[in-house]
Amino acid sequence: MENIEYLTREVKGIRESKFQSKWIRKFETIFAQGNGYLGIRASTEERYINEKRGAFIAGNFNQFDENEVTELANCPDLTAVEVKVNGNRINLDSGQVEDYRRQIDLMTGEVTRHFKWALDEVRLEWSSKRFVSLKDLHVFCHQIELRNPSDKPMTIEIISGIDGQITNSGAQHFTEGDKRLRDKVFLQMMATTSQSKKSLVTTLSHRLRIDGEEAGIEQTFDIQRRRLLMNYKVSLPPNSRLDLERYATYHTDFDLDRDHSLSLENWALADNRRIYQVGYDQLLDQSRAKWQRDVWQAAPIHIQSNNAMDDLALYFAKYHLQIMTPAHDERMNIGAKGLSGEGYKGHTFWDTELFMLPYFTYSQPTTARSLLKYRYLGLEGAHVKARDNGYQGAQYPWEAAWPSDGETTPVWGAADIIKGTATKIWSGFIEQHITGDVAFAVQQYVDITDDQDFMKQYGYEIILDTAKFWASRLNYNDQANRYEIWDVIGPDEYKEHVNNNAFTNYIAHWNMQRALSLIAELRAEQEQVYQELDRALDLEHLETELSDKLKLFYLPQLNQAGILPQDDSYLDKQVIDLSPYKNQLEVGSLFKVYNLEQVNQMQVSKQADVLLLIFLFEHLFDREAKLGNWHYYEPKTTHDSSLSLSTHSILASDLGDQALAYRLFNEAISIDMGSLMTSSDDGIHAASLGGIWQMVVFGFGGLRCIDGKLRIQPHLPAEWHHLHYTIFWKGVKLEINVQPKSFSVTNHSELKSVNFLHHHREIEIAPQTTFELQEEN
Ligand code: BGC
Repeated sequence: MENIEYLTREVKGIRESKFQSKWIRKFETIFAQGNGYLGIRASTEERYINEKRGAFIAGNFNQFDENEVTELANCPDLTAVEVKVNGNRINLDSGQVEDYRRQIDLMTGEVTRHFKWALDEVRLEWSSKRFVSLKDLHVFCHQIELRNPSDKPMTIEIISGIDGQITNSGAQHFTEGDKRLRDKVFLQMMATTSQSKKSLVTTLSHRLRIDGEEAGIEQTFDIQRRRLLMNYKVSLPPNSRLDLERYATYHTDFDLDRDHSLSLENWALADNRRIYQVGYDQLLDQSRAKWQRDVWQAAPIHIQSNNAMDDLALYFAKYHLQIMTPAHDERMNIGAKGLSGEGYKGHTFWDTELFMLPYFTYSQPTTARSLLKYRYLGLEGAHVKARDNGYQGAQYPWEAAWPSDGETTPVWGAADIIKGTATKIWSGFIEQHITGDVAFAVQQYVDITDDQDFMKQYGYEIILDTAKFWASRLNYNDQANRYEIWDVIGPDEYKEHVNNNAFTNYIAHWNMQRALSLIAELRAEQEQVYQELDRALDLEHLETELSDKLKLFYLPQLNQAGILPQDDSYLDKQVIDLSPYKNQLEVGSLFKVYNLEQVNQMQVSKQADVLLLIFLFEHLFDREAKLGNWHYYEPKTTHDSSLSLSTHSILASDLGDQALAYRLFNEAISIDMGSLMTSSDDGIHAASLGGIWQMVVFGFGGLRCIDGKLRIQPHLPAEWHHLHYTIFWKGVKLEINVQPKSFSVTNHSELKSVNFLHHHREIEIAPQTTFELQEEN
């Protein structure tokens, strides 16, 4: 594609090398900046019809009206700047644009932009740069440098300020508060969300210089409805330069770092005043240092490949995973689009537990802990959901927002092409595997980190309370004398109201089984913890119930052809030729022809379902079963969900088909980073980024935690010469180096040995030593 380039040498980044306003949403998303507290889409300074500005603060949910679900409010914009040169407004759709380049440096998140613009006699050179600080959570800095290359003075007018007219596709979440200019420098706008009553203060300060001097600048101040603006007018001499520095901050009344000795406005003002004094370069240095220490050096991972994009994909994934994750506050979690767009309303799905969490558990365990603590806090909402549905225990919402909100899935979704109405979204009612997914993730987290403290304080309760839900949820089939699970949606959302979705049954069974053994373990080993949990959950009764029901629990098995039925009816459905709908540039092409009711009657899957089950519970299936099910289900899968390809790539790796695994890896890394210009309009595909890490580490790197044991069994694709990755295993830093015919594991611990499995052989690595293995093939 002509307007996207990949920077793979000293700078790791992506470049927009030609400006085309029709594609701005793509770059707004993939160049988005943030720090987990704040996320800002990379909208250009000048406005375009096609733009979708967005600034989001994690946890800032609001319900616009009672017919809508709560969503992450789009906050006032601080990125737009209008510049006029001799009365002509800069707009790159008019005039001539030369030397255009805008790029993101993924190691710092800084976005820089350069171009030369000419309109009739007017000439201007533009350079701008901006970043959101990883160190100062509230801070966005922006600089614009304008040069007059001509031999005549030019008049430059700038309008820059806070724009509270921004909405979520028309839904205005804020009521206006005070707006004012403080100390002639600091613009401040107060706003409060209409229903959740969260207060937000946006503050913006400017500094202007002509050839380094602050003199000679006319300034006026303007208050409009939901807007607060500074107007500057400058006569820029020939060959001179105008620098505009912009220091922006967002502060809310639910920030954990809030200084309660000051009013919210004064706290925000003090912070903005501080950064205004420190300046862009130093603030960037501080942020860069934090990126280095916390992200790039903490758990390095690199690929040497014939294709430099492979390594870049890891930078891209790690960058976005970092900026989308509210590691600072355990009341918050990751949205399906991170903080990079309005898509999925900022809600949290199973995407976190199954797709993103493994990256954090192995690379940044404290962040993983915080993400799981969110689910502990969410027990309140999960109890409400279970009770409302006539169940017991904790039933996690399919879509989650503030922990106590409970279920937040909207009820109506995309167009039904046949009926001419919106399609009903059943997931909030019957996509129930999420409850088991959370429990499974808790166990994985503790197996990998050995964070017994988390388990004691929160984890046991999550596992037991969710098992309690399942026990009350099971359906008894009296003809077959067994417990089943009826009327659900599995991971394959194309199949609604099915009985015995295998994935759901297995995860529920695992959850109940784990709870049952846990009760016995706690009673035997942790008397006090047992007593406390018993008081809350009546463990004796739960134990009997789990034990009775597990005995009669139906786990679908491989049929005679070796296929695990996705649900009771899937294999009887019509098989269609899926080739016209596979590998389409746009997702959902099937729904241009059929509606969901029709697709429900076909053997067509949206994403990995049985195959995901085989990936998670791999020890239950032999190679033949894996292969058979791969060949059965993959051809019937559209991969219309961005969660699908990574699971398929990992399984292909496990099955020894490295070429296929690599082809799927390449497709998967292209979802956002690739040249398809429309795929990221609503925001980044957060789960697919976790999937990139998983394909590399779990797939090619061969890492897995199965039943609490570490397994390392790497298999590189032919294109790779070297894979280096780092993980934390029970608090010990392990470095794994894989080459085509050998691999090594270094144990960095001073004291602890580490054991791992390699092709069923148990290997022990003593502290501070490296284990090396030559492979025969
Ligand atoms: C997928 C779900 C996923 C959701 C959010 C849907 O398209 O089918 O599995 O949780 O997107 O990413």
